[in-house]
Amino acid sequence: MQKLVIQGGRRLEGEIAVQGAKNSALPIAAAALLCDGESRLENCPKLSDVYAACRILTNLGCRCEMQENTVTVDAHGMHASEIPEQFMCEMRSSIIFLGAVLGRMGKCTLGYPGGCELGPRPINLHLQALQRMGVKIHEENGILHCTTPNGLHGARIHLQFPSVGATENILLAAVTAKGETTISNAAREPEIVDLAGYLRTCGACICGEGTGTIVVQGVKSLKGCTYRIMPDRIVAATWLAAAAATDGEICLRQVKSSDMASILDVFEEMNCRISAADNRIYLHAGKPLKAVRLMKTMPYPGFPTDAQAIMMAALCRACGTTLVEETIFENRFRHVDALVKMGADIQVAGRVAAIHGVRSLHGAAVEATDLRGGAAMLVAGLSASGETVIHDVFHIDRGYDSPEQVLQSIGAEIIRT
Ligand code: UD1
Repeated sequence: MQKLVIQGGRRLEGEIAVQGAKNSALPIAAAALLCDGESRLENCPKLSDVYAACRILTNLGCRCEMQENTVTVDAHGMHASEIPEQFMCEMRSSIIFLGAVLGRMGKCTLGYPGGCELGPRPINLHLQALQRMGVKIHEENGILHCTTPNGLHGARIHLQFPSVGATENILLAAVTAKGETTISNAAREPEIVDLAGYLRTCGACICGEGTGTIVVQGVKSLKGCTYRIMPDRIVAATWLAAAAATDGEICLRQVKSSDMASILDVFEEMNCRISAADNRIYLHAGKPLKAVRLMKTMPYPGFPTDAQAIMMAALCRACGTTLVEETIFENRFRHVDALVKMGADIQVAGRVAAIHGVRSLHGAAVEATDLRGGAAMLVAGLSASGETVIHDVFHIDRGYDSPEQVLQSIGAEIIRT
């Protein structure tokens, strides 16, 4: 088992080019199987989740290769419509292949994704929407057998909650379905806009992405293209948090600052100096860092749940008390125990956590609980005095491409063993 060993307390300073977005690369890789001809997806991060998506594509009969940061997908030889259970267990977001495989093959068999470290992860919204588009679903022993006896057709779909995954699955099924699909209360996340951008480049007819109503006119076929994956706004937030927590100064390149408004607002409230151009963000840590009144996670454009743990780590040493309310996932405070072990003063009651700022954190041996929880331990370890050892690094590797190298480049003392 690999671990990250950090000698904390070093001021971080320098410039980082931000990796491509995992949450955009995964649905776009799935979308590529809908296309005739080859798609070249540039700026793909080298992550275990991206490798898992490539394995699913290969297993379905597609050609999928990754060279440096470019993933090439050719669905010419696609023959299968089943996603074996091992892939569903490996990566919960494998569910995103459902809409695409249905669009291409008219049927799909896949394991029911179980709960995960963030709590139960239901897919009722995905399934209800697909049923409205003509999909028949038969569940047996946790396996979903999905068929389209009369083909996929457009539908008017209102989502009870703006689920990111459900919006993506509907889009993937709708682009080559017969007729028009309207999604109301759709997720507005930038990754949805990126997926729509890729599909449109392939010939899809979509409008309204980034708003609550998306309209899709089904087309007969899509053609593969070259597309550049958007920057990862959560990874960008992580490097900003690391600089803020170490009294540092950082400049991020290859970012999209307009996608990060709610996150940058929190840094400013923390007393950090931010200046942002379209594709650059500069942060100078506040002295002292200040608590923020309430950090409440919400669907985009609200504050993202994926940045909650990371910001919490940066707020451990901020003067005053910060309240954090998690409204998206049930079980997203699992990193708190590790932060407390490092000297943080945090109380959790249900979905609310109160962080009382302390003067300093100290290093400790901790276990990454989940992807962003692990990243929070990274941020806390960098700002703590002494040595922090993070076990179960595989969680972090699901979303961060060579984090130790990135952090070394801005002055962190961190190694992987
Ligand atoms: C995506 C992101 C994840 C992020 C999340 C919220 C990817 C690969 N993952 O996950 O990093 O934290 O968006 O921004 O892009 N829900 C239902 N029924 C459903 C679907 C969802 O009740 O059918 C609930 C979930 O339990 C959760 C909430 O809706 O409480 C948000 O889920 P959703 O937006 O679907 O997140 P994901 O697409 O799984």
